[in-house]
Amino acid sequence: MPVFVVYLTIFLSLLEKVVAAGVSSSRVGYGSSRFRAPRQTSGDRYLLGVGKADITGPVVEIGFAGYADLDQKGSGLRQRLYSRAFIIGDVDNPDDRLVYLVLDTMSGDTAVRRGILEGLGNLGSEYDVYGKDNVAVTGTHSHAAPGAWFSYLLPQVTNLGLDKQSYQAIIDGALLSIKRAHESLTEGHLDLGRTDVTDASINRSAWAYMANPDEERDRYETDVDTAMTLLRFRRASDGKALGILNWFAVHPTSMHQNSTHVAGDNKGAAAYLFEKAMEGDDSAASGFVAGFAQANHADTTPKVLGAWCDDGSGQQCRLENSTCDDGRSQACRGRGPEFRKLDLGVSSAYEIGRRQYAGAKLIYDSLDSSSTPIIGPSVKSFHFFHNMAFWDFHLPDGTRVRTCPASLGYSFAAGTSDGPGAFDFTQADSGDPSANPLWKLVSGLLRTPTREQRECQVPKPILLDVGGMEFPYPWSPNIVDIQTLRVGQLVMLVASPEVTTMAGRRWREATAAAAEGIVDNPIVILGGPANTYSHYVTTPEEYDVQRYEGASTFFGRHTLSTYMNLTIRNLHHLAPDSTTRPGPGPSPPDNRAVSFNFNTGVVLDGAPIGRSFGQVLSQPLRSYQRGEVVEARFQGANPRNNLRLEGTYAAVEKLGNDGIWTRVRDDGDWFLVYEWKRTNFVLGYSQATIRWETGEGGDGPEPGTYRIRYFGDERNFFGRIRAFEGVTKEFLLV
Ligand SMILES: *[C@@H]1O[C@H](CO)[C@@H](O)[C@H](O)[C@H]1NC(C)=O
Ligand SMILES: *[C@@H]1O[C@H](CO)[C@@H](O)[C@H](O)[C@H]1NC(C)=O
Ligand SMILES: *[C@@H]1O[C@H](CO)[C@@H](O)[C@H](O)[C@H]1NC(C)=O
Ligand SMILES: *[C@@H]1O[C@H](CO)[C@@H](O)[C@H](O)[C@H]1NC(C)=O
Repeated sequence: MPVFVVYLTIFLSLLEKVVAAGVSSSRVGYGSSRFRAPRQTSGDRYLLGVGKADITGPVVEIGFAGYADLDQKGSGLRQRLYSRAFIIGDVDNPDDRLVYLVLDTMSGDTAVRRGILEGLGNLGSEYDVYGKDNVAVTGTHSHAAPGAWFSYLLPQVTNLGLDKQSYQAIIDGALLSIKRAHESLTEGHLDLGRTDVTDASINRSAWAYMANPDEERDRYETDVDTAMTLLRFRRASDGKALGILNWFAVHPTSMHQNSTHVAGDNKGAAAYLFEKAMEGDDSAASGFVAGFAQANHADTTPKVLGAWCDDGSGQQCRLENSTCDDGRSQACRGRGPEFRKLDLGVSSAYEIGRRQYAGAKLIYDSLDSSSTPIIGPSVKSFHFFHNMAFWDFHLPDGTRVRTCPASLGYSFAAGTSDGPGAFDFTQADSGDPSANPLWKLVSGLLRTPTREQRECQVPKPILLDVGGMEFPYPWSPNIVDIQTLRVGQLVMLVASPEVTTMAGRRWREATAAAAEGIVDNPIVILGGPANTYSHYVTTPEEYDVQRYEGASTFFGRHTLSTYMNLTIRNLHHLAPDSTTRPGPGPSPPDNRAVSFNFNTGVVLDGAPIGRSFGQVLSQPLRSYQRGEVVEARFQGANPRNNLRLEGTYAAVEKLGNDGIWTRVRDDGDWFLVYEWKRTNFVLGYSQATIRWETGEGGDGPEPGTYRIRYFGDERNFFGRIRAFEGVTKEFLLV
């Protein structure tokens, strides 16, 4: 066997249960003193456009991204995934544009960003205004969406490589969303509002947070950023809102590590609720788009009831290292508000989404009486690549420090209370690696870190020296994106890594202070994880504690200071009259053509003799009370034969008084679940089950006569794909 296959095989077996988690940042980056008193005047005019498109990749047989769990493979779909695009342009300078993309994915990514930029280049010359500087590719950080689109080897490992279909679905949908936003460009105004959402997140690593200086912590009421910032896009012609884009910090890890139905997790639920509420709302234009973007969420969790030991002890996990009585972290599980419902119906994901929706709606409803208009003609941006490997620079106090090639520490393998790790690793294990001989062996086998690298990463003990591993192609990025966008007084830090609460506060605050003279009364927000996934960034004090987030801070103790330095040094490019841009920096490797893919394609679909594709195997009952779950089962075929982008696998139809059936629910609806199961591997038989949770988190749908329709595509022996449908008998909902 070639050496890399040995590496990969060993790695696969060991990483099986290991968790990768995490993302971006945000307590709204501005102090209240900077948040100007509301004005009645509307702000300046900008060119505004919004667009939404389907990016749902293969919903079965492909590993999810986020928990890095080889066993977490798709088996169906609760909610389609989307790209939501927000374009802001300068009315007088047509070249000054921004595109903020919010993808229902684990993160931005180097390969995905490349694909999007290449695609933009092929859309025609009117799209030349969009490019590397002004397109921000951010992910919501859903842990319930397919992976296998990553550029680098390490995150590919638990997804078995890079799958073209999974990758292409994101590129195509992202481009379509940008196209829709571009085609809808119109003059309008931007308003900003904020509120505190205090019931949707709690700290996940308080032990590390407490290592930050007392004076600093005393300035904040909470150890997570509870502020939600919302930007409204309103067109000038009739005052209707085109969409909203908001930032709030919380991990979308409400859906469990064993959940295998594709969804946008809590952020997906929030966007669904907001967009639904705007249908038929007078204040909103048709095609209203709600983006729930991620902020500095790295050390937050949506498991707001705390982390408990599932070992019968009835105790909470230990604060220091998330262990239980047995000294291990395996039994430690965070609990969401609806943890007893697991991932069904009004689950924790839905409820945490609803709380974010409620916060956003509160802001939205108050904007006409109290908002901060965005003013100033400047729509500016900069982007460059920076190599973090052994980069020397000076801290503001003059100390000379350096960043290091990427590596992961021992606590990385322990996971978090959102998803515990494998073996006997615990958090805050700064430790004596000899206590973990197995891991010591593996990390040594993979690559022995150089002395320079070990010294650079102190006090992190190196488990995986991924930044030094280039064989057979790079395992993790050393080259990261530095990007900042600006419209009027709003400055958007676009962060590659997941950023902890305090790291985000420092980055935003330093940026706001340095922006004096360039931006009047700056309001700084932080969004991500974007462009290139580069795990975490903590404060140096949190780094020293080496819990999961510190162990996952790739480039060493001074990672955060580097991001701050590089942002601040380049702020002058955002000045209103600036025409300069930083140099592009080194190009990251393009691994797309050389990436492994051990995900096999669909071979064949079959149906037992006497049965046809789409045939109903199990009809719904004649009648249901609202609140009950309607269920039907069909002779199925593999959904990977056709992603049905912008379409649906499942639908609910309602019989009208005129005798006409109308579609009332589809894959976009949270409470309609499509599930696929192979029943005979050799002959390619499979079944599709469609469930409609008719409670729908409220009064449910109108009583009436309904039926369920299934859309599939079968692949025959010769590889030809043919579409089919199945429809149930009608049933009553009373
Ligand atoms: C972290 O959150 C928990 C649960 O809300 C709370 O009890 C604890 O005080 C928080 N820790 C810190 C350091 O604030
Ligand atoms: C999935 O994980 C949750 C949370 O750890 C657990 O309570 C539940 O029993 C698991 N479900 C299955 C089917 O294993
Ligand atoms: C976890 O922390 C507790 C309390 O400080 C300590 O007693 C225990 O030894 C730690 N466990 C490990 C495995 O580090
Ligand atoms: C960033 O680092 C450079 C190189 O050491 C130094 O000259 C500069 O003063 C630093 N800038 C900031 C804002 O810290």
